[in-house]
Amino acid sequence: MSQTLLITGAAQLLTLGGSAPRRGKALGNLGLVKDGALLVRDGVILAAGPRAKVEAHPEVRSAEKLDLGGRVALPGFVDSHTHLIHAASRAEEYDLRIAGASYEEIARKGGGILNSVKKLRAATAESLKARARAALAKFAEHGTTTVEAKSGYGLDAASELKILAVQQELKSEQSLEIVSTFLGAHVVPAEYRKKPKGADAYVELLAQQLIPEVARRGLAEYCDVFCDRGAFSVQQARRVLAAGRACGLVPRVHAEQLARTGATQLAVEMHAASCDHLEKINRADMRALAKSQTAATLLPGCCFHLGLPRYAPARELIAAGAIVALATDYNPGTSPTLSMPMALSLACTQMRMTPAEAIAAATINAAYALGRQKRVGSLEAGKQADVAVFDLDDYREIPYYFGVNHCWMTMKRGRVVWGKESFQ
Ligand code: NIG
Ligand code: FE
Repeated sequence: MSQTLLITGAAQLLTLGGSAPRRGKALGNLGLVKDGALLVRDGVILAAGPRAKVEAHPEVRSAEKLDLGGRVALPGFVDSHTHLIHAASRAEEYDLRIAGASYEEIARKGGGILNSVKKLRAATAESLKARARAALAKFAEHGTTTVEAKSGYGLDAASELKILAVQQELKSEQSLEIVSTFLGAHVVPAEYRKKPKGADAYVELLAQQLIPEVARRGLAEYCDVFCDRGAFSVQQARRVLAAGRACGLVPRVHAEQLARTGATQLAVEMHAASCDHLEKINRADMRALAKSQTAATLLPGCCFHLGLPRYAPARELIAAGAIVALATDYNPGTSPTLSMPMALSLACTQMRMTPAEAIAAATINAAYALGRQKRVGSLEAGKQADVAVFDLDDYREIPYYFGVNHCWMTMKRGRVVWGKESFQ
């Protein structure tokens, strides 16, 4: 039996319909419908738009009804950059950083990512899964319906496979969609740092053994590299991404976060799905991104958490015509938040994106960054009914009320996965 649902009472329905991805001025176009409605059958949108128009659909008569009571409805957020699976926080480093130590100083002393690697290797798959499950429930609570998840705190075959296997299990054991990325090239693991040419040896392990195995077992869709000072060089990153590409894994890149290394040019050259961070990007990099199909994913949570003043140049990237997306970068080192509304607040106040641009960057452009723009990221006939409802009068209040979650209900494929009022 098919199930039909009529959703009315959206004082503002942000449809984000039309072409994807959005560049330049089009980024600020939300496709806002006042007194909007959605008709959903079996998790897929049959009609979206003004209430009167949607109610004229023949399937409305047999539909179950849900009234949003004059709230704001928009596509569920697509968080296109997270390090979902980690064993614990790094609160001890938070203290050190507040006392004046920099992120890179802490990393050089064996803290940072290697600290999380030690903790992850010692953790059981069950405990990692339990922690991630709890986090996913919180993602849903904040209006997120699709989550990209990277490995990268294992850095040996067994531990990286353990992370990706947990991600696979979570795909079927909870409601949010998880998109898996292999990030074996996060940093060089401690055991390889002692050997001469250890970094290159580790890159060869990834390229010749681990990437083919991950691909063969269908454990990831994307292959990412942290191409930055203290992590991997452009040459090493190219080797990793090419090996991934040869096995069918689409490239993504962590680029120009700590220093300008040329990682963005590599991402464009490799036709990466996205190039993320970009705090230290230069004008030539921006022009290259603008001419490309690679999304520029900005992660303002990092500068905020690390207390750094130089956010990515969102305004210049938008003006140049790059495909700007926003994500949380949920991770224990640089951005321990899973709140897309908070990422929006930071995008607005620290990078001067408008609330409308920030919302489009966190929905339709983020869906594009994950190759899912045909299925999610907007509310249009034929798309999945992934909806976030905020208990607010105006969409601008989502970033405006920073640090407080006003998400009232979250729906994934037409099913309520989080809500203040139970339904069904
Ligand atoms: O996206 N830049 C590299 N990776 C993460 C940080 C990881 C960590 O510090 O644990 C990031 O910021
Ligand atoms: Fe990251």
